[in-house]
Amino acid sequence: KILNEFCNEYVLIGEDRTSLPVQYLQFAEQIKNFEVLNDDIWIATYPKTGTTWTQEMIWMIANNLDFEGGTESLDKRFPFLEISGLFDHEKVFAAIKCEVAKYSSVDLAENQKSRPRFIKTHLPFSLLPDQLRNGTKTPKIIYVVRNPKDACISYCHHGNLMLGWKIDVDTFAKLFIAEKSMYGSFWKHVFGYWEHQDSLNILFIKYEDMKADLPSVIKKVAGFLEKELTDEQVEILAKHLSFESMKKNNAVNGEEFIEQFRKNNLVNEDGSFIRAGEVGKYKKELSPETIRQFDAWIKKNITGTNFENERI
Ligand code: A3P
Repeated sequence: KILNEFCNEYVLIGEDRTSLPVQYLQFAEQIKNFEVLNDDIWIATYPKTGTTWTQEMIWMIANNLDFEGGTESLDKRFPFLEISGLFDHEKVFAAIKCEVAKYSSVDLAENQKSRPRFIKTHLPFSLLPDQLRNGTKTPKIIYVVRNPKDACISYCHHGNLMLGWKIDVDTFAKLFIAEKSMYGSFWKHVFGYWEHQDSLNILFIKYEDMKADLPSVIKKVAGFLEKELTDEQVEILAKHLSFESMKKNNAVNGEEFIEQFRKNNLVNEDGSFIRAGEVGKYKKELSPETIRQFDAWIKKNITGTNFENERI
């Protein structure tokens, strides 16, 4: 069991038996029946794969690089569908002052005033709203994938910083491989969306490609969103999305949130949300034995699938 101040009990939910905090059950039905709109823009990711980075990119492209509007917190501009179901409401509300502690995040996502609505989720495909799963509604969905070893260490640090965990990377990696961490199996998550990318409106992008050539990914996402950007705009946006710029940007760096955790002695590790931003950082953090186990698990999961030749 992961030590977690806010959700000390996990349940296994849905056909993939995804482990989620027991509080999720209060929102499961509402999410299943969520009213999807065809012009919504969704981002779906396994945690720590570059969600925030991509959300900022999507929002900026869809809003014609509205840097002034972008000074509002990303959490408000791009609500996180199920976050209210990840915490014990009373404890979070007592500790931190934020909208998702006070209101249902599902309501906040649903009742956005402007169009298109922007919605972030970490849910696996099997737990998405029915209208998305059965294709009754086909909004644009962008899925970000990242090397699971880097995502895993990033997840561990995030948990120690912002989720009340107290766990070292090698122990956490074992939970991750055993698919017992919050949101369960990394591979079921990836494949759930991968298998539907042709039938539904899903664009796959990779964290590693964003690191290698951000302007190309910006152009790809703009094309998917049916937005035209000049070369100059692509360059300006790439600068705005650079690691250094995002780290300083209080609308996206989560510092306000972390400060409240610090004040309430809920932070078990120094650091920041926009942390290292590197490819292959796991090599410096995981033990050789954990890396060996990780690689065997990756091989077992992708061999024989059409993901086998994807480089992440
Ligand atoms: P690290 O912990 O490896 O640094 P998510 O938004 O899905 O929680 O992902 C967070 C990860 O994305 C963190 O990874 C964070 O540093 C990284 N990230 C955020 N903004 C970034 C940027 N502009 N460039 C590179 N990485 C970024």
